[in-house]
Amino acid sequence: MNDKLKPDNANVAVIGAGYVGLVTGVCLAKLGHEVVLIDIDEDKIQAVNHKKAPPIYEEGLEELLGQVHIEASSDYRKMMGSDIIYICVGTLADDSGNIFSEHLIDATRKIAEVLKERDSYYVVAVKSTVGPGMTEELVIPILEASGKKAGSDFGVCMSPEFLREGQAIYDFMNPSRIIIGEYDKRSGDILCSIHESLNAPILRTNLRTAEMIKLATNAFLATKISFINEIGNICKQLGIDTYDVARGMGMDDRIGSKFLSAGIGFGGSCLPKDIRILVSGAKQAGYQPEFLEEISTLNEKQALKPVALLKKHITLKGATVGILGLAFKPGTDDIRDSRAIIIVQALLDEGASVSAYDPLAVDNFRKLFPGIDYVSTEEVLSCDAILILTEWPEFYDLDYRGKIVIDGRRIEKAREARIYEGVCW
Ligand code: UGA
Repeated sequence: MNDKLKPDNANVAVIGAGYVGLVTGVCLAKLGHEVVLIDIDEDKIQAVNHKKAPPIYEEGLEELLGQVHIEASSDYRKMMGSDIIYICVGTLADDSGNIFSEHLIDATRKIAEVLKERDSYYVVAVKSTVGPGMTEELVIPILEASGKKAGSDFGVCMSPEFLREGQAIYDFMNPSRIIIGEYDKRSGDILCSIHESLNAPILRTNLRTAEMIKLATNAFLATKISFINEIGNICKQLGIDTYDVARGMGMDDRIGSKFLSAGIGFGGSCLPKDIRILVSGAKQAGYQPEFLEEISTLNEKQALKPVALLKKHITLKGATVGILGLAFKPGTDDIRDSRAIIIVQALLDEGASVSAYDPLAVDNFRKLFPGIDYVSTEEVLSCDAILILTEWPEFYDLDYRGKIVIDGRRIEKAREARIYEGVCW
């Protein structure tokens, strides 16, 4: 194989059809590459092959899926002819940041099994978020157990993704940068060539540095949020508007205005988990990352602020509390680590009943909380009090007059409520 692939016509295999793998596969197909998507989940495979709505909500994904040629399969042998094999399986971490790497290990073993029969060179590129050192210490040894040698028989890269859920297609096609951690120059050259048409700055580095860039990026985004929440908590005490403070700070281009929206904190499948992975990796390396631990602690405390504020205005025992928003952010049906989980549980523990509305995330939330009521926005508005937990656009137009509202996401219109409190303003 050439060390430079055609930027618009390479053979690519993507392992894992979650939001990262599916978006990566569909976008690479859109760029002209021959893509095979491999997953162990037959339902996902059928959905992709029948161009059906993917199980995850991602803006524009179903439409793009309908436009491109992409084959999905559970048969790893389909990647026999691939020049690049992206590993995009999900990684999970427990509360202490220990990574459950079963999917990664399983996928890598299957890749090794198939590729021991292959003679031509290819590159394995890890996109899954992994702990510091895992590509070298886990992925490469499994691949080499096939009898093939990294650097001569195959190449290895670690190329983290920076895809926001809900806007992942846009982010893939318009990357701020592409990070290529390379085992050696040949591996990196090949991975660079497939990204050429995206016209983004490329930073080439070693495998460990690329892993750390991913973790440090998410940790920094989380830091900005916990920082502005702390400033917000102080501002609320002092009667200062945090959002004006954030606006003023953000005008300094060393700080930047993004990720300074104070509220109930960060959720989702990435920020909370990646901080835990980084903390755990630091401890294993013999360093106590007190600052990073505090970011997570602050975030957990912040989620309970709306409940504490509500208790100033009503007795929770026996009250019916309406919830606007269950997804961890707007534009997705994902509730992983959503602040709504912590808040709904706290309300139930206090003896309140909960009536909730979300435009996309009800089905997922119902699996966790089958006993609460899932209702329309009108019904939420007729509850004893209302908590706003996700800034869905439709919440900007509701009629809050006469209500008691605790706002976790700064919905300006809700200020018309009879009693209105923002968590940090
Ligand atoms: C995050 C990163 O933004 C992506 O760059 C990264 O690729 C992705 O994780 C990942 O590692 O795969 P995502 O989890 O989709 O993306 O969510 P974000 O848009 O970052 O929002 C995370 C949380 O922070 C949400 O709960 C949101 O409500 C909260 N947030 C965000 C705030 O509370 N304030 C802000 O100013 C911004």
